[in-house]
Amino acid sequence: MKILLIGSGGREHALAWKISQSPHCGKLFCAPGNPGTMKLGKNVPIDPSDITRLAEFARENEVELTVVGPEMPLAMGIVDEFEKRRLRIFGPNKKAAEIEESKVFAKQFMTRHKIPTARYRTASSPERAREIIKSGEFPFPLVVKADGLAAGKGVFICPSPDKADEAVHRIMVEKEFGKAGDKVLIEEHLTGKEMSFIALTDGIKVRPLVSTMDHKALLDGGQGPNTGGMGAVSPCPFLDKTLFAEIMDVILLPTVTRLLEENRKFRGVLYCGLMLTEKGPYVLEYNCRFGDPETQAQVLRLKSDLVEVMIDALEDNILAREMAWSNRPSGCVILASAGYPGPYEKKKPIQGLDESAALSGVTVFHAGTKLDGDRLLTNGGRVLSVCASEETLADTMRRIYSAVQMISFEGMHYRKDIGAAPKEKEGS
Ligand code: AMP
Ligand code: GLY
Repeated sequence: MKILLIGSGGREHALAWKISQSPHCGKLFCAPGNPGTMKLGKNVPIDPSDITRLAEFARENEVELTVVGPEMPLAMGIVDEFEKRRLRIFGPNKKAAEIEESKVFAKQFMTRHKIPTARYRTASSPERAREIIKSGEFPFPLVVKADGLAAGKGVFICPSPDKADEAVHRIMVEKEFGKAGDKVLIEEHLTGKEMSFIALTDGIKVRPLVSTMDHKALLDGGQGPNTGGMGAVSPCPFLDKTLFAEIMDVILLPTVTRLLEENRKFRGVLYCGLMLTEKGPYVLEYNCRFGDPETQAQVLRLKSDLVEVMIDALEDNILAREMAWSNRPSGCVILASAGYPGPYEKKKPIQGLDESAALSGVTVFHAGTKLDGDRLLTNGGRVLSVCASEETLADTMRRIYSAVQMISFEGMHYRKDIGAAPKEKEGS
C-alpha cells in the first residue's frame, strides 16, 4: 500500500526507516521529510500544517495509510480532515489531541479523574500569574509553563521569585511562544526520576511500547535549559514490573477510559511524561504522538511490523497480535546546533556522516539537515540522532559515541552522559 508520513525530524526518519521495512509498504511518501527519509521514500514538499493540501495529496495519490509525526497537525485537526474524506490516518482527532495542545485542559482532566499530577493554578494575565507566585502557595522552586504547544521549551523551573517573574514576562509579555503564552500554569515542583511511558491505543485498549528514558536537559548531569530531548535509552533503567503495573493502572488505562467517556476517544500514540515521586508516578505532561528522540531508540528494538499494529489500532483491535521487541538495549545521542534550544545558525557543512553510518551496528537518523547539491548542511536545532543497539547498554553507548566522534560541524553540541547512571532531577 501507499503510505504517507508527515513530519521532518529524527522521529520521522526513524518511523520511515521502520515503515519502509514493512511488507505492506509499497511506496512511502514523506511530507516534507528530510535528506534521510529521501533515501527511503519520496519527499513531498507540503508543510505539515497545510492539512487540506495533505488530505488532497493523499486522495490524489491513493494513499491508504497516513501516519502523523508531530503534534501540530494533530492539534489542528488533520485526523478530522482526513476522516471527513474517508481517508485512513493514524492519530488522535482534534478533541483527543487537546490533551497535549492545552496543558490547562490536561490538568483539569487529570484533576477531574484523580490521575496524579502536580498541584497547579492557571493565570490569564501576567498580573494574576505574579499574584499566584507571590501568594506563597507554591514554595520555590516552582514551575511556570506556557499553556499551549512550545516544542518542549515553554517550561521554566524557577528557583526564586525573580526567575518566576522573568518566566512570566518571557511567556506572557514577550510572547516567546506566541499564542501558547496566552495562559500560564504555575505548578508545584516535583522531584524524582523522570521517564517517558509511551503506548499505542485504539481508544479502548492499550498496547505499551518498550520503555525509554529521555534526557531533556541540554547539558551533562541534567544541567542547563530543557530541550526537546538530547538523547534516549531503552529500556528505562529503573522501570520494573511493579512500577509498570502501577503506571498502567493509575495512569494509562484511566486516561484512555476517561477520554472515551468524555467523548474524546483517543486513537494513536499516547505519551505520558512521568515523574516518579516518593508518592508514586505523577504525570508531568501528555503528548499525543511518538517521542523524539524516544522513537529513534524504540524502532531499533522493534521486531514486529509497525504498519500492521497501526492498522490494528485503526480497526479497534490494538491487542490483535503481540509486539515483539529485541532484548538488547538501545540508545540515541542527539547532535545539536550551537545555541539550541535558543536561536542557532544554520547551513554549517556536516562532515563524517557516511563514515560513521558505515560503522557496523550504527544507525544515524537525520533531523535538521538539508542537501545543498551533494553537500549536507545543518538546517535545525537538533541535527542528527546517532543510534545503536548492542548486547549491553555500555556497549551500545560506546558504539554510539565512537560514531559521534567521526561526525563534525561547526558548533556541534551533544551530551556525553547519555546512558550513564540516572541522577535524581531529570532521570538522566
Ligand atoms: P513538560 O513539557 O510539561 O513535560 O515539561 C518539560 C520538562 O520540565 C519535564 O520533562 C520536566 O523535566 C520539567 N517539569 C515540568 N513540570 C514539572 C514539575 N511540576 N516539577 C518538576 N519538573 C517539571
Ligand atoms: N522527547 C520529548 C518529546 O518527544 O516530547
